[in-house]
Amino acid sequence: MSRSHLRHRRMIGTLAMAAAAAILVPLSTANVAAADTARPSHGAPASTLGRLAAAHGKYFGSATDSPELSDAAYVSILNSEFGQITPGNDMKWAYTEPAQGQFVFAKADNILAMARAHGQSVRGHTLVWHNQLPDWLTSTAWTAPQLDAVLKNHITTEVGHFRGEVRAWDVVNEPLNEDGTYRQTMWYETLGAGYIAKALTWAHAADPAAKLYINDYNIDGLGAKSDAMYNLVASLKAQGVPIDGVGLQAHLIVGQVPSTIQKNIQRFAALGVEVAITELDIRMDLPRDAAKDAQQAADFSTVVGACLAVRTCVGITIWDYTDKYSWVPSVFTGQGAALPYDENLAKKPAYAAIAAVLSTHRTLAPRPGRS
Ligand code: XIL
Repeated sequence: MSRSHLRHRRMIGTLAMAAAAAILVPLSTANVAAADTARPSHGAPASTLGRLAAAHGKYFGSATDSPELSDAAYVSILNSEFGQITPGNDMKWAYTEPAQGQFVFAKADNILAMARAHGQSVRGHTLVWHNQLPDWLTSTAWTAPQLDAVLKNHITTEVGHFRGEVRAWDVVNEPLNEDGTYRQTMWYETLGAGYIAKALTWAHAADPAAKLYINDYNIDGLGAKSDAMYNLVASLKAQGVPIDGVGLQAHLIVGQVPSTIQKNIQRFAALGVEVAITELDIRMDLPRDAAKDAQQAADFSTVVGACLAVRTCVGITIWDYTDKYSWVPSVFTGQGAALPYDENLAKKPAYAAIAAVLSTHRTLAPRPGRS
């Protein structure tokens, strides 16, 4: 909050405060964040990545996961620093429909309630994927009509349950191979490539206001896989399928951020869809050292800057915010330290680099009332 807001608050009585806040708050979170950025010292509270991003009309968020919510120090930063939340596991099929037709949403509901209480928007992740599926689903030899019905019921029930609470859904996750062909999943093999259009259409019927995405990794820069995603989205748009966005997961490696990331975001934007950076982390060979930390800081700055440079890049989500809870070490042997906070929840150089690019980038979104 800026000093002028504080002065204003002192001048008005307690009874008037609630009413005043109701008027002040919606006026512009962006202006408050911008004011903090301009005057970071002299008693004004430090800004946060979420507020700095909001000054550009974008969000800066983090994934989280239910087991982490018993860590009070972790939760305190999660709730104060970030403007958006993605449940990292709790909306996946294995956990939401563990037995056929029996839906379990309690853990995701809990995360969404926390997000709502802190004014954070939510990304739903994910409806159609080939991983983290329940055994009943993967162990049955479905006919196409049967699998069609199973998929439709899952999407309709899950999206319907969260209707109005999820800003955007990763409807289809990781549908492509590295060479741009379709991944041979149970969905593709049984239903054909049409499963993608069907999933989007069913999700749209269940929550017409939610932004519907296809999300994948290694489509961050130009290349065969991102060309294929481009062509897929263009063809879905041409058929009138409800597709609103492309998610660039951005599981990246220190020193290897694709140089074409901004160009790639731009070409998706030109198709008339949003882009979101959905699962950003930038891993290194362990152990950390100062040189790797510095390169990682520059790399985070590059990715965030690329999103800031394109109006329809709506925001950035890091795949959890601390190395304490990163998925990287369990999957990429010998690698880790991929996030802006270390295992003790202390800020790494990447944090300052992200805050700096969010504070200094010139392409601020137009303010209300200006053209
Ligand atoms: C990961 C989670 O972070 C892990 O906790 C889980 O064990 C496996 O899945 N791409 C995705 C995410 O779309 O859902 C994955 O999340 C990371 C890769």
